[in-house]
Amino acid sequence: MVIEFAPLEDELGDVLDKAMRHACCTEQSLADRSGVSAEKIHDAIDYRYELTPDELRRLAAALRLNESGLLALAQNRYPLPEISGLPFCLYPLRTPHGIGVANAYIVTECGQSSGILFDTGSDHAHIERVWPKRISKLDAIFITHAETEHTGGLAGLRRAFDSVPVFFPQGICLSDTNACWAGAGGSLAIGEGARLRFGAFEVRAINTPGHAEAHNSYIVSVPAIPDSTQLLVSGDLLFAGSAGRGYFCAQSFSESLRRLFGELPAKTVVAPGHGPLTTLGNERKNNPFSC
Ligand SMILES: [Fe+2]
Repeated sequence: MVIEFAPLEDELGDVLDKAMRHACCTEQSLADRSGVSAEKIHDAIDYRYELTPDELRRLAAALRLNESGLLALAQNRYPLPEISGLPFCLYPLRTPHGIGVANAYIVTECGQSSGILFDTGSDHAHIERVWPKRISKLDAIFITHAETEHTGGLAGLRRAFDSVPVFFPQGICLSDTNACWAGAGGSLAIGEGARLRFGAFEVRAINTPGHAEAHNSYIVSVPAIPDSTQLLVSGDLLFAGSAGRGYFCAQSFSESLRRLFGELPAKTVVAPGHGPLTTLGNERKNNPFSC
């Protein structure tokens, strides 16, 4: 198990901005609804915070956000859980993209040299720089959604790992050379309920549209160890302390989030597309978007 520190993806201003967009609020309409001045809301979205706890509570109520999570974010004390219990090794691979950082992950049986990769980082050179020396073979690559920061390393990785199959959400077109491909090396578009086995691992796909129309999350489990902790690779749906942006559809984004919170056990480890690892239980309790 490898854990290293990663900062939260979002701060209070980002969360308010995303929540306002999801609720189709303007600064003025949120001000009217919450009784907090539009100027203060504007400043907060611009990372200048002068909101009192009472104003934060009113904003949380108006935007239907989890109040305690929003207050924790505002006070820079958003709780992160200890990550433990996975019956396998997990390597978070963090690669720069613009001013941000995107996560990819390798899942492997501890001590083995082969693994499964989830997303590919922003660029092949970047992912090579953080690649664990031990991993010399890939059984599969899974893609959560088609954005450069998550798929930019794909072409180089396909060259480096010759016949590795790539699994990606139905409805996207992955391209190495401006030509769409599927079927190469066993590659396949997969959707809700698809289950694939690789050695000890089972990977189950769930459709989680909202940030993108074609967006899969993946649940990794070890069926031979019943009730063992599962890993949820959540792409740009759920982050520690925040969530992605509902670019495709705010309503389906909320439905996808609600579904994860409702269906998965609290001990599930969440490996998001940005920011640190967390657990489903921690996010159900604290995430501003968990209401
Ligand atoms: Fe992303």
